[in-house]
Amino acid sequence: MDINGRQFKKFLERQEALKKHHVTDATEKQHAKGKLTARERIELLFDEGTFNEVDAYSRTASCDSTFGKMIDAYGDGVIIGHGKITGRTAFVYAQDFTVMGGSLGSVHAAKIAKIQDMALKMGSPIIGIIDSGGARIQEGVASLAGYAAIFNRNVMSSGVIPQISVIMGPAAGGAVYSPSITDYVFMTKGTSYMFVTGPNVVKEVLNEDVTFDELGGADVHMKKSGVAQFVYADEENTLLGVKKLLSYLPSNNLENPPIVESCDRNIELENRLREIVPDDTNKPYDVKDVIKLIVDKETFFEVAESYAQNVVVGFGRLVGKTIGILANQPKVLAGTLDINSSVKGARFIRFCDCFNIPILTLEDVPGFLPGIDQEHNGIIKHGAKLLYAYADSTVPKITVILRKSYGGAYCVMNSKNLGGDFNFAWPTAEIAVMGPEGAVSILYRKQLAESEDPEKLKKELAVRYRDEIANPYVADEKGYIDEVIDPAETRRKLIFAFEALENKHIGSPSRKHGNIPL
Ligand code: HXC
Repeated sequence: MDINGRQFKKFLERQEALKKHHVTDATEKQHAKGKLTARERIELLFDEGTFNEVDAYSRTASCDSTFGKMIDAYGDGVIIGHGKITGRTAFVYAQDFTVMGGSLGSVHAAKIAKIQDMALKMGSPIIGIIDSGGARIQEGVASLAGYAAIFNRNVMSSGVIPQISVIMGPAAGGAVYSPSITDYVFMTKGTSYMFVTGPNVVKEVLNEDVTFDELGGADVHMKKSGVAQFVYADEENTLLGVKKLLSYLPSNNLENPPIVESCDRNIELENRLREIVPDDTNKPYDVKDVIKLIVDKETFFEVAESYAQNVVVGFGRLVGKTIGILANQPKVLAGTLDINSSVKGARFIRFCDCFNIPILTLEDVPGFLPGIDQEHNGIIKHGAKLLYAYADSTVPKITVILRKSYGGAYCVMNSKNLGGDFNFAWPTAEIAVMGPEGAVSILYRKQLAESEDPEKLKKELAVRYRDEIANPYVADEKGYIDEVIDPAETRRKLIFAFEALENKHIGSPSRKHGNIPL
């Protein structure tokens, strides 16, 4: 090729035009709002010098209505491409709020759909960085159709490649639905918000005053709605969080998660596991202390830590290999399962199952949370989601019963007959239809009514109930528990058990898909 020829000259001119186009006041505008530009975000996300842009020269579709005035921008307000994140290929799209508010028109949507198709075909994660006012009003139905095309690809990619959404500005209207289909939503405090209809519409329709942050800020979605699973104080840390999450995940559903070299544990630390569960069965403790002593040092990465805290979910590593952990949290609502924790747990189990991540369940649950509110809002169907997710999953599944395991909650938490591969219990485990106090009150109602000292009698019967029924040894002898283990041995037992399960394979009956109680 003649590098002084016409064609090469044109190539260079185009490059020059694009460069000039990028030098606008966009950077200042974004920085003034405490935000980075789309390009800066991409640079932080990918390993240095590895990002390759696709479709940088695409132009905004023309539009000739009264409202058709649009910026003729290179790229149409979204950057798409691929690169390496900690050495592994990933695809990205990043919306540019400085181009018509990051709104989604037909070209913008086609670019996102194109990169989604590539990520799915190549079997690599896709990260969407959202900073958008939603459907581009000037382009009308073409914008709506563009969203529908993106949603369709989100669904087709679900369970095949990890899909991560990072909200770094507004995600308004149509912009919220793609993130909510993806596996995880990250938000940045103070500068990101998500809502279907904004404060102005709320005011118009309901005459209620609400700020952007109150309606759909990071705290709201992390703590109340559960829409976001990860929230960070600034954009840089948000992107570091994305990288950390990816380090636990395989690139697609046909791969296993990457193995990371990790250090061995200190036996003395593991001995502390014997001391964590208090003798008084009604005393709370922090189950995260148990998790941290079991997994490789400093590898526990919690998911949705501020939402439905009565269940703790997250990733960790055991001798370098990723596991997913679901644990009841006795510190919150006594570790009971309620609607929100069931849904949180079910979604996490489904995710692990999609991506070949073995599941460890740490159980200390007195039962489902009683109450009119729970019943009327459907604890029956929401609790069933967790049950369904466990039973439906085929990855290696191990349960350790730390303390309480009562009633329906026993069944749900990956019990043997639901499909648990190895079911262990600590000597402190209490496994029964219900707790001693409840059981004694039902079985000895008459005797207690006639007793001179019902409290004393109740206590005596409760002790006998524990000795005879609510302990791990009955379940062990009947095969519902594979082994009662010394708490200090938990990590070693789990390492061997997960290794034994490495070649686990179970088929499912032929069907289109099951009908999870949504
Ligand atoms: C076209 C838009 C736009 C949109 C913003 N802009 N949203 N252009 N279509 N949807 C443009 C503005 O006109 C402005 O252009 C520039 O982007 C920056 O917007 P500002 O309003 O100045 O910014 P800010 O004050 O930060 O407010 C951001 C915002 C607000 C909260 C996102 O722009 C807003 O409320 N936008 C509309 C949000 C919305 O209701 N979207 C829903 C669309 S319906 P200039 O030229 O002045 O710089 C929808 C349904 C799809 O999405 C359903 C699919 C399932």
